[in-house]
Amino acid sequence: MDMTAEWTGMDFNLSEEHKAVQEAARDFAQNELLPGVIERDDVQKFDPTLLRRMGDLGFMGMMVSPEYGGGGMDTVSYAIAIEELSKVDASASVIMSVNNSLVCWGLEKYGNEDQKQKYLTRLAAGEVVGAFCLSEPEAGSDATSQHTTAEDKGDYYLLNGTKNWITNGNTASIYLVMAQTYPEKRHKGINCLIVEKGMEGFSVGKKEDKMGIRASDTHSLMFTDVKVPKENRIGEDGMGFKFAMSTLNGGRIGIAAQALGIAAGAYELALAYSLQRKTFAKPIFEHQAIQFKLAEMATRIEAARLLVYKAARLKDEGKEFVKEAAMAKLYASDVAMWVTTEAVQVHGGYGYVKEYHVERLMRDAKITQIYEGTSEIQKIVIARELLK
Ligand code: CAA
Repeated sequence: MDMTAEWTGMDFNLSEEHKAVQEAARDFAQNELLPGVIERDDVQKFDPTLLRRMGDLGFMGMMVSPEYGGGGMDTVSYAIAIEELSKVDASASVIMSVNNSLVCWGLEKYGNEDQKQKYLTRLAAGEVVGAFCLSEPEAGSDATSQHTTAEDKGDYYLLNGTKNWITNGNTASIYLVMAQTYPEKRHKGINCLIVEKGMEGFSVGKKEDKMGIRASDTHSLMFTDVKVPKENRIGEDGMGFKFAMSTLNGGRIGIAAQALGIAAGAYELALAYSLQRKTFAKPIFEHQAIQFKLAEMATRIEAARLLVYKAARLKDEGKEFVKEAAMAKLYASDVAMWVTTEAVQVHGGYGYVKEYHVERLMRDAKITQIYEGTSEIQKIVIARELLK
């Protein structure tokens, strides 16, 4: 199908395939993720059975080619699925997003055939989970300042350093680790190494006690003289930073879709609540103050959705999408924060307690303005693209 014609023809309808993905993701989210979501947030633990289900249903390697065990779907399908899962459980969707966008996509695009056979096939099937390790105690936004070192020792790299705030930190078995090999070359001296759990000298550190996405596990990681075989380097010597930036460009579409889903989930709850809750002898939806809120929530969500789909579509068409992905993430994450706060307000006192879900969505929304590049980083990316 000629997607360009469809886009330029301004046909905003979902294809039959996209609708099927949406329905499958919605069923899974509403029937399987919703029960237990409050408890998982409370105990800060994701259910391994649900993780296996996500693998079996094909959510862990949606865009990976069938040749490597993936679903062979487009980015629009992926964004649709992330949105549906995020309406209910943003912890599930971040586990999925990191595995799909940052780990599987990066391996398929830049890995060699052996690496794809050895790692990608298992990651795409959801048999194992991956983690993307760029951030460090002193390198969050300033990602070129990598202190973790990968010393070239001939047939292996000697890896030393600490990574911070790593999503899937303990759940993962396969880690893509950015590390500096030639400090004098700055970002051009960075390599990306595939590290396996169990390699000697690699340990998983403290688990973060987070505000939101609490059921997903976020850890620091420590590497002490870990011998990583040379064949585990992704791409040419020194292309690790390029790998990380390129991977994050696509990852931002996943997080934008997550933010969109969090917002849409909170909106749907607020709308339903406004129709059944009565004050002053009528459903609160009939009060104009509530109508104004819901109208603005729906409008901002629709605008965010268009940005997310546009970025995803551009990527699928093989066109430039860096600016659009950053715009989608910047805007959708602000929408998520605003809509969830308003959804709590619509619920009044009920909104402030866990049973009604919106307080969790509000806590979950905040991270979308921070990870895979803060809102400020998105503005830097957008501004640079504007100058090109
Ligand atoms: N796409 C492709 N390449 C890019 C790029 C992009 N978006 N941004 C920068 N680059 C390239 C540049 O072209 C340059 O390459 P050359 O030297 O070959 O031209 C190189 O990267 C270095 O760029 P700059 O000189 O512009 O570096 P900088 O230090 O001024 O800025 C930055 C770089 C854009 C701020 C970058 O550090 C950045 O994106 N920081 C944010 C990092 C981030 O998103 N971290 C998230 C962690 S992962 C995560 O959150 C996962 C999770 O848990 C869910």
